[in-house]
Amino acid sequence: MFAGKSTIITGANKNLGKQTAIAFAKEGSDILLHYHSSSSADETSKLAKELISDYKVKTIVFQGDLSTEKATTDLFDLAIKSFGKVDYAINNVGMVLRKKLSEISLDEFNKMFSVNVTASFLFMREAERKLAENGSVVMLTTSLLGAYCDGYSVYQAAKSAVYWMCKTASKETTKKITYNCVSPGPMDTPFLYGQENEHRIEFFKTQAVEQRLTEVEDIVPIIKFIVKDGKWMTGQNLYANNGFTAPSA
Ligand SMILES: NC(=O)c1ccc[n+]([C@@H]2O[C@H](COP(=O)([O-])OP(=O)(O)OC[C@H]3O[C@@H](n4cnc5c(N)ncnc54)[C@H](OP(=O)(O)O)[C@@H]3O)[C@@H](O)[C@H]2O)c1
Repeated sequence: MFAGKSTIITGANKNLGKQTAIAFAKEGSDILLHYHSSSSADETSKLAKELISDYKVKTIVFQGDLSTEKATTDLFDLAIKSFGKVDYAINNVGMVLRKKLSEISLDEFNKMFSVNVTASFLFMREAERKLAENGSVVMLTTSLLGAYCDGYSVYQAAKSAVYWMCKTASKETTKKITYNCVSPGPMDTPFLYGQENEHRIEFFKTQAVEQRLTEVEDIVPIIKFIVKDGKWMTGQNLYANNGFTAPSA
C-alpha cells in the first residue's frame, strides 16, 4: 500500500505516533521516527530496529525540540537526505493543560503555544517547502474543539490555531499536497490521564456510543485513509470520537 513512499512521524516513540509508525512500516513506507525527550532514545532506536527487521523498510531516528526552527528544518532535511523524498508528514506533537484560565501563568500560556502552535507552524511550513508533489500532511488536533467545557481554554485555543493554519495551507499549496487535521476524542494514553480524574474519565466514556475512550487503534486507520484513499479531501478536520463531540453545522 505504501511501498516506495516515505513518511515523517513526530512523537513516534509512543502512543498514537508509535502505532501510526508501525502501521505505515507494515504497509511498506520508509519511516523517520522523531522523538523529543532524550530519555526516549533507547526505546526509539529499539523501535527502529524492529521496523527494519520486521518490515524491511528504511527507518531512521531524529531527536529534537520541534518548537525550534533549526530542529524542524533538520528533521525534513534528514528525511530527504535518507529517503530521497518525503511523501507524508504526520505531526503528533502536542501539549495539554487543564486549568482555569484565571490561574494560567504567562509562562504556561507561552509554552502551550510554543509546543502546539509554533511547532505546527514550522512543521507545515517545512512540509510545503519540502514534501513531494501529491504528498499529505496530517496534524493531530482535538475533539475538544467541538466542546463547550471548562479547563481547556489554552489547549483549545492552540489546537484551533493549528486547524486554521492547516486549512489555509491546504488552499495555498502549489504541490497538490493535502492538509488535514484529525481530532481524536479523549484517548486512552498518559497524555489524557495527566490532566483528568477518574470521575471525569468515566463521564467521557458515557459520551461515546460504545461507552469507552478513544483508543489509539481507532485513529490509525483514519490517518492511513487520509493519505491514501482520501486524497480528494483537504483542509478538513476529522472528528474521530464515537459521538463525544461534533463541530456545529
Ligand atoms: N490523548 C488524548 O486524549 C488526545 C486527544 C485528542 C488529541 N490528542 C493529540 O494527539 C497527539 C498525540 O497524543 P498522545 O495521546 O499520543 O500523547 P503523546 O504520545 O504524549 O504525544 C505528544 C508528543 O508530543 C511530543 N512533544 C512535546 N513537546 C515537544 C516539543 N517541544 N518538540 C517535539 N515534540 C514534543 C511528546 O514528546 P515528549 O513526551 O518526549 O515530550 C510526545 O511524543 C497530540 O498532539 C495530542 O494533542 C490527544
